[in-house]
Amino acid sequence: MLSGVIPFETFDRDSISNYEDKLGVARNLAAGVSSGQVIGAGSGSSAFLAIHAIAERVAAGDLGDVALIPTSIEVHLTIAGLGLTVGDLAANRPEWLFDGADEVDPGGNLIKGRGGALFREKILFCATTDRRLLVDRSKLVEHLGSRFPVPVEVVPTALPVAIPELEKLYPSEIEIRKAGGKDGPVVTELGNLIVDCRFDEISPDLEAKIKSVTGVVESGLFQGYEPTLVES
Ligand code: A5P
Repeated sequence: MLSGVIPFETFDRDSISNYEDKLGVARNLAAGVSSGQVIGAGSGSSAFLAIHAIAERVAAGDLGDVALIPTSIEVHLTIAGLGLTVGDLAANRPEWLFDGADEVDPGGNLIKGRGGALFREKILFCATTDRRLLVDRSKLVEHLGSRFPVPVEVVPTALPVAIPELEKLYPSEIEIRKAGGKDGPVVTELGNLIVDCRFDEISPDLEAKIKSVTGVVESGLFQGYEPTLVES
């Protein structure tokens, strides 16, 4: 439970799929944290449990202060709410990061961004080469795109030109993500929209091709980042 001044917690045990598996992964991740480290903290339920597992160690006196650099407002509030130090990329580069994923293929390529935090997550992936991926058994796939679309963050005014360009990459489905708890589309923390593109096949250069479309800010395709998998 949060101990800080801001009463905000989005996940609870019942809302997290594969809870026991994810908790085991989170505790394994937390066991590798050392006092004084500056660490990137991803978004999503796996990352949320990892932050809690780190906070558990700090509360138990087993670990000194660590700074966690957040990848979303939600994660910022979680870190602060648990009384941990909120890190800042402008002040320190992370020694390593942890994050979840929606799909992981055998080569360590990822689809991320179910929760819409893909932009700041990718910034942190580019800020350190030690990337630790929280993987419960539901995440492993033979081929990316088996279950999830690739989320693409697009500047709203660019949609009329960006969508036809994305269609040239042959998605089998393409749609603007709708919000829950708000009318209309999801609006990201940067004020952009998310276009979910489902692909039957994902070529090794698809991340770069999507990124080259004018108006695209980032995508949730992470190819070639070679994360270390942390399992339960
Ligand atoms: C956040 O936008 C995402 O990239 C998450 O990291 C990803 O969707 C994994 O989420 P879970 O850990 O909740 O499965």
